[in-house]
Amino acid sequence: MSSYSYISRIFPFYLYSCILFLPFALSANPNMPFKAVNLGNWLVAEGWMDTSLFERIPNNNLLDGTQVQFKSTKLQKYLSAENGGGTRVVANRNGASGWETFRLWRINESTFNLRGFNKQFVGLDNQGQGINVLAASNSASTSFQIIRKPDDLNQVRIKAPNGLFLQVKSETMVTADYGGSSSWGDNNPSVFVMTIVKTIRGEFQLTNGYGPDKAPQVMRDHWNTYIVDDDFKFMSDKGLNAVRIPVGWWIASDPVPQKPFVGGSLSALDKAFTWAQKYGMKIIVDLHAVPGSQNGNDHSGTRDGYQEWGDSNIQDTITVIDFLAARYANHPSLAAIELMNEPLAPGVTFENLNKFYKAGYQAVRKYTPSAYVILSARLGPANPTEFLSLAKSLNHVVIDVHYYNLFSDTFKNMNNVQQNIDYIYNDRAAQLSAVTPSNGPLSFVGEWTAEWSLNGATMQDYQRFAKAQLDVYGRATYGWAYWSYRNKNNHWNLKWMIENNYIKL
Ligand SMILES: *[C@@H]1O[C@H](CO)[C@@H](O)[C@H](O)[C@H]1NC(C)=O
Repeated sequence: MSSYSYISRIFPFYLYSCILFLPFALSANPNMPFKAVNLGNWLVAEGWMDTSLFERIPNNNLLDGTQVQFKSTKLQKYLSAENGGGTRVVANRNGASGWETFRLWRINESTFNLRGFNKQFVGLDNQGQGINVLAASNSASTSFQIIRKPDDLNQVRIKAPNGLFLQVKSETMVTADYGGSSSWGDNNPSVFVMTIVKTIRGEFQLTNGYGPDKAPQVMRDHWNTYIVDDDFKFMSDKGLNAVRIPVGWWIASDPVPQKPFVGGSLSALDKAFTWAQKYGMKIIVDLHAVPGSQNGNDHSGTRDGYQEWGDSNIQDTITVIDFLAARYANHPSLAAIELMNEPLAPGVTFENLNKFYKAGYQAVRKYTPSAYVILSARLGPANPTEFLSLAKSLNHVVIDVHYYNLFSDTFKNMNNVQQNIDYIYNDRAAQLSAVTPSNGPLSFVGEWTAEWSLNGATMQDYQRFAKAQLDVYGRATYGWAYWSYRNKNNHWNLKWMIENNYIKL
């Protein structure tokens, strides 16, 4: 892109934003546009940001949603839910992909339900009384014990509720009737090599992994120590004036939320409001995990990675928004409620989300005329401007976009610093200006980071990249929020980045 087109695109935006928006924004809230940070992994766990909580769970690589494949050592063939599900499990595949992959629902550290490709559960014929193994049940009614070989955890035997083991009688006959030798020899028809192909580490995995006896204390300790008063002091001292706080839908049923979630995140959020007020900061409450999961990601509260939020979940999700709005609407530190983080297209349809956004907006407006309502743009194949027209018909509304120079091939193929920086000044600037209309909703870069796909970058490279993003995202009319405040990966950790002079606000 030439610098001329860049200037012509940005200049009118600056002109309008200065003349029209800023005075209005300033009168509405002196902190705007916000310089904020995400308190990620606090009230909605994300294992990649801090592995320590997960490490203490027994058998912690078999948590909910773990995707596994089983290869018979005798036949050297993979188990497969024939047709993806609805009929028998067979053992005749040389390679493994979707139909050969099963997702775990964890009952306890050794007992699981297995969910196949088409979402049916593995069970036995004759209403569970037979011996033929099927992947045809719509409910998780049959649980299996996975017994790992002590000196080679990849070798397993699978015990059915009838006390007998699954075996491969032939490539098309998988039955739960093996009571023979428990040796781990390759000829044993009940021995399988288990391959883990994907894991999930979110709030569901954490709480269900610890189980109902241990999870409440573990979670309370985490909430009480991960973010404290001093963190708000640090943030405000360094020039941050708001936080975006991801919360999960179960917070609305605190103190006794739906299992396996545990109570207490609500009082942690209450404390954040107290600290924010003490240090003159604002809070954006971000509904990060919704019933059914809006994107299947670890941070969506999902059990097994299937994205299932849809029309039937709208009312339950509105109930959560209503609860949050009722509780915090009149708190002087509330800046905004974000209705749903990162809905993923096409699974979350425009129609369902549009319906939900309208109803969510009304739910917030029942309690406050002035708190902002944030609409997250859909991830995936969707135009970030698709909710502009809805937003223009409402008051005090913000469009949230998340900008990471990561994850896709575009960025993996960017192998030098300048390319990444140019992308910010050109492409990101243009993308941001498209969701920053002069007479419409405000724009918010609700997640970004100074990490990128480059390896071996120097401190100065990171500084330049961070500065480019601060320059460009500083044009967002509602502000920006770094991901995240704390993170075991330094470049994702704004506290570390500030203390080590990578980022200057
Ligand atoms: C796990 O659950 C199964 C089924 O309820 C039970 O039989 C088994 O004893 C439990 N195991 C542990 C280790 O709690």
